[in-house]
Amino acid sequence: MPTVASPKSTIAERLAAVRTCTEAIVDGLSDEILEHAPRSFVSPPVWDLGHIAAYEELWVWCRAAGGTTAYPDLQAAYDAFETPRPVRTQIALLNPAQARDYLAATRQRTLEVLNGRMPARDSELVNDGFVFDLVAAHEAQHAETMLQEFVLGAVSITGIGTAGSPTPADDGPVIVEMPGGPQELGADDGAFAYDCERPRHRVQIGPFAIARDPVTAGAFAEFIADDGYRRDELWSAAGRVWRDEEDARAPAYWESDGAGGWTTRDLAGPCAVDPAAPVCHVSWFEADAFARWAGGRLPTEAEWEWAARGVRADGGANLGMRRRGPAAAGTFAGLSDAGCRSMLGDVWEWTASTFEGYPGFRAYPYREYSEVFFDGGYRVLRGGSWATQPHVASTTFRNWDLPERRQIFSGLRLAWDREQ
Ligand code: AVJ
Ligand code: FE
Repeated sequence: MPTVASPKSTIAERLAAVRTCTEAIVDGLSDEILEHAPRSFVSPPVWDLGHIAAYEELWVWCRAAGGTTAYPDLQAAYDAFETPRPVRTQIALLNPAQARDYLAATRQRTLEVLNGRMPARDSELVNDGFVFDLVAAHEAQHAETMLQEFVLGAVSITGIGTAGSPTPADDGPVIVEMPGGPQELGADDGAFAYDCERPRHRVQIGPFAIARDPVTAGAFAEFIADDGYRRDELWSAAGRVWRDEEDARAPAYWESDGAGGWTTRDLAGPCAVDPAAPVCHVSWFEADAFARWAGGRLPTEAEWEWAARGVRADGGANLGMRRRGPAAAGTFAGLSDAGCRSMLGDVWEWTASTFEGYPGFRAYPYREYSEVFFDGGYRVLRGGSWATQPHVASTTFRNWDLPERRQIFSGLRLAWDREQ
């Protein structure tokens, strides 16, 4: 892959920083908590731990360097496809202490490859540090997944996300007009990117408008109060089926406080819904219904990426667990070139787009990272959440999930059509 080489010391620092994060997330948690999957559609966190180690060992030690795995009997258990989520509590896995040992032993081997003590067998993988960036990004993604599992399981982690919130700024118009035109979409060659972000290509985008800020919890509460969940005309056909099966009447974890307000929970436990913060834990179906109620629509991912241009993950965004949840737009991050806020961090934003390969897509280094999901059933999310580590958040990163999922840290932003 065409990436710019990072010095070995930078790669080692990133690997160490991600591991520090992983350890902070599971620090002090009991085996009982780590081995429990709160629902069948998520993993027990101990699976994520073993899987992080197995993935790193597979890609660095085995594939890049030609070594053999320490746990041949467990490779299938930690392969996400051979062992899908509902099966992960039914099979033998490493216990948390063993998984921690596997993580540490694997990291030793990774550093041997990084430092050239184990010669590369596949030079394309190690060139420019690609495989090291891959395993660091992979670990960071599973760290966020474990945080979802802990919120879903009402596990309290109090040591994380203690930053206060400064007063939000008041910047510019709340609706940003975009003129339309040809735009370059996708990752350029300057840094690590996943296969689905390439190749960079030109698209034609019509004129549109996009909200400066994500939809707030307060606005979402108005949708609920206006009977938004009961008005069938606001919902897609599939969304009505999901809503009725799930008996959804509010975002996940929301409960009425009996006085017109709402409570929810974050990593530290029960808390009031902050009406000024972006709404979180909505499914694509709920996001789509809200947008129709509000007289708008979800942006396409091309529109989103254009509106986000110029925002940087190191520009102070609410990323990397500095808080335990989203903060009011304008609190942390700066403006994008177009004048949008919170494009990175706070909540992942559902888009109208289904997850597909860009024109000229080439699967690398394996089809199961993204290509097998190009079946039209997944929707793209953009921007990263408060739980996403900054080195994996970018304006070109493409996340995806099923439209019914809402244990992820997901919200939305409105867009509107404009006349040509
Ligand atoms: C990009 C978040 C959809 O968790 O399924 C983790 C990331 N890929 N291990 C997922 C991923 C392989 C992926 N998402
Ligand atoms: Fe994985």
